[in-house]
Amino acid sequence: MQSTKLLLGQTLAFSDDPFQVPVDQATTWVRRGGVALCDGKIIDLGAADDLRTKYPDADVTDYGDGLITAGFIDAHAHYPQTGIIASWGKRLIDWLNTYTFPEETRFSDPEYARLIAESYFDLTLSNGTTSVCSFCTIHPESVDAFFTGAQARDLRVIAGKTCMDRNAPDGLRDTAQSAYDDSKALGEKWHGVGRLSYAVTPRFSPTSTPEQLEALGALWAEKPGYLMQTHLSEQVDEIEWVAELFPDARDYLDTYEKFGLLGAGGLFGHSIHLKPRERDRLKEVDASLIHCPTSNTFIGSGLFDMAGLMAAGHRIGLATDTGGGSSFSMLRTMAAAYEVGQLSGTVLHPAQLYWLATAGSARALRMGDKIGNLAVGAEADLVVLDLASTPAIAQRSERANDFWENLFPTIMMGDDRAIKSVWVNGQKRP
Ligand code: GUN
Ligand code: ZN
Repeated sequence: MQSTKLLLGQTLAFSDDPFQVPVDQATTWVRRGGVALCDGKIIDLGAADDLRTKYPDADVTDYGDGLITAGFIDAHAHYPQTGIIASWGKRLIDWLNTYTFPEETRFSDPEYARLIAESYFDLTLSNGTTSVCSFCTIHPESVDAFFTGAQARDLRVIAGKTCMDRNAPDGLRDTAQSAYDDSKALGEKWHGVGRLSYAVTPRFSPTSTPEQLEALGALWAEKPGYLMQTHLSEQVDEIEWVAELFPDARDYLDTYEKFGLLGAGGLFGHSIHLKPRERDRLKEVDASLIHCPTSNTFIGSGLFDMAGLMAAGHRIGLATDTGGGSSFSMLRTMAAAYEVGQLSGTVLHPAQLYWLATAGSARALRMGDKIGNLAVGAEADLVVLDLASTPAIAQRSERANDFWENLFPTIMMGDDRAIKSVWVNGQKRP
C-alpha cells in the first residue's frame, strides 16, 4: 500500500447530470476542500481541515486557490493527425485527401508512429487531458505505438486500428479480412491490459466496403466488451456520397446498422445532420454521440444540436477531434461548445460544459464508474487549474461574484497555461 496523499484547493465534483437536474443539485463546490488519494484511487473528499485531521501522516500538496477536478476526457481524437493540425482551406473530403491521408500513410514506420504518439501524449497531458479515445491508422504499428505510450504514462485510454478498404490511397488500404484479423489480434494483445481498452474502428462508411463493415460487425459481436467508434453525418456532401455508395441503405446510420455496427458501446463522432429515424434509433439503442465543436467549425461541418439531443435523453460526450479539430485543449473545446450553443439558441452553463468534458465523456465511453469525477472509489486522474492563468483571465475572474463566474473566463479564454498540475492514477505527471 502506498502512502496517502492529500491535495488541497477548491474542489468541484458532480453528484448528478447538470443537463437533467438544476446545477446547484448536480454539483458540489468546496471553497477550501481536498481530495485524499491512495493506491491510484480517490479514497476521500471533503473540507481541507477535516481531511488534514483524518489523515495526519499524509503527504500534503496545497494548491491554494487552484481548482481540483477530474482530468479531462477527450472522447474522439486522431492522434496520428497531431502533425497536420490547423491545415488550411479544405472541407472534409478534400481535407482528408490533401492533408490527412498522406500523413497517415507515414505510420507504417513504427519509429515515426512512436515519435508522434510521444508528442501527442505530451501535448494532451500538458492540457490536462487524462483519458482519450483515439483512432489510429490502418497500420497495426500505429496501435502498438499509441498503447505503448499510454502504458508508459499509466493512462486510461481507448483506441483501435482504423479500417479502410476503399476510397483511400495506395498504402492506406487494408482488406475486409486483414481488417478483421489485425483488429482481432490487436484487441487480444491490448484490451484489458492495465488501463487500456480496444475499440473496433471502421473510419466511416465511405472508406469501407460492405464486406469490411460486415467483418467488423462480426468482430464486435464476438467481442461485445469492446467499444466501436466511427464517424456519422458530419458534412452534407459526405452524407450524399454515402447515399450513392449504399443505395439500399435507409440513411447514413443504416450503413452501420445493417452490418451489426449499431448498439450500446457505439461511439458516433459528429452526428450533426441526423434524420429523425437516426436520432430515434441512436436513442433506442443508447449509443453515444460525440460532439466535436472545434472541428465542426474549423472544417465547416455544422452545428450539433446539443439542446435537442440532450432533451431527448441521448448519451453525449465532448471531444477535440484533433487534427480536424483545431486544439488539443478541452478548455478550448468547452469554449467552442459554448459558442456553438449560442449559435443554436442555447446557453450552456459552465457546469454543463465542465460535465461534458469530464463525467459526460466518461459516461459516453461507458467508464463513468471509473473516471471523470471526484468520487470516492474513482481512479485518481485529476487536473488542477489556475483560475487566473493570464492577465486577461485574472482581471475578469477578480470581479466574479460566485464560483461559476470565476470559472467561466478560464473555460472561455484558458489554455495549457491554466493547467497547474496533472495527476494520473494517483501519481503526479510528469
Ligand atoms: N471522417 C472520416 N475520417 C475523418 C477524420 O479523420 N476526421 C474527421 N473530422 N472526420 C472524418
Ligand atoms: Zn474524427
